[in-house]
Amino acid sequence: MKIIKNKNKLIKLVDGQKKIGFVPTMGAIHFGHISLIKAASRECNKTIVSIFINKPQFNKTKDFKSYPRYLKRDISILKKHKVNYLYIPKINEIYPRGRNRKIKISPFKKKLCGKFRPGHFEAVVDVVDRFIKIIKPQKIYFGEKDMQQLKIIEDFVIKNRINTKVIACKTERDKNGLALSSRNFLLSKKQKIIASKIYKLMVNNKKYLIKKIKNLNSIKKKIINLGVAKIDYIKLVDINKITRPFKKKNKFRIFIAYYLGDTRLIDNI
Ligand code: PAJ
Repeated sequence: MKIIKNKNKLIKLVDGQKKIGFVPTMGAIHFGHISLIKAASRECNKTIVSIFINKPQFNKTKDFKSYPRYLKRDISILKKHKVNYLYIPKINEIYPRGRNRKIKISPFKKKLCGKFRPGHFEAVVDVVDRFIKIIKPQKIYFGEKDMQQLKIIEDFVIKNRINTKVIACKTERDKNGLALSSRNFLLSKKQKIIASKIYKLMVNNKKYLIKKIKNLNSIKKKIINLGVAKIDYIKLVDINKITRPFKKKNKFRIFIAYYLGDTRLIDNI
């Protein structure tokens, strides 16, 4: 695995390469990231992973500062997998002239997390667009764990006729159902148990919610009773009807964002 910190060096390395798979990350590598890497190395000739904690996509400085940083550990994990290049850019290489304030993304940005994190998805798409321009990957990999991010990026790539295929990978979970996330590093044992109970609650109630035998308020109450101080949202969404072209078939997911202590967790089931 080659570690590259210089943009021009990377541009030279990828120049003329035919089948590059790219996995953008913010580090604190876990098996969710690894599953994306595995898919890339199965389907592509070269796999590139980036680690870049993209400050503009954080709404609170505190959240940016407390984001887990384990670069040494990350490098040793990535070395054990089939990663050809690890790109760790400096901020000014990604933003030589600041952010792109004119970026246009799907109106789906206003829903779910977008209501609570203004500007977040614009900042995510901005950085992903910059990476795509540098690397020009044939395929770029995202997790369904961040479904809203995935849908917004898919839409952006199609609308802007970007010659990269967005590949969606399913959510990886621990043995108790907790969706793997870098933010889990910030959770206590007790908080992890609560999070896995919330997962089970959603799995067990999904069919009743779809059939309207139960409503979300009753689930919300149960979640509060588990010791959750704040739920940003819990919503049942047909993911086939959020970005155009809509599909006929229904595909429901329960989306949730909630806080355990200071840590904000999201999931969709
Ligand atoms: P990060 O949270 O590090 O996630 C990197 C990628 O891993 C994303 O596509 C995310 O959906 C995926 N991922 C995270 N947890 C997963 C899980 N449990 N199962 C499967 N995939 C999972 O998402 C970001 O970084 C950033 O917003 C980024 C796209 C890098 C832009 O800064």
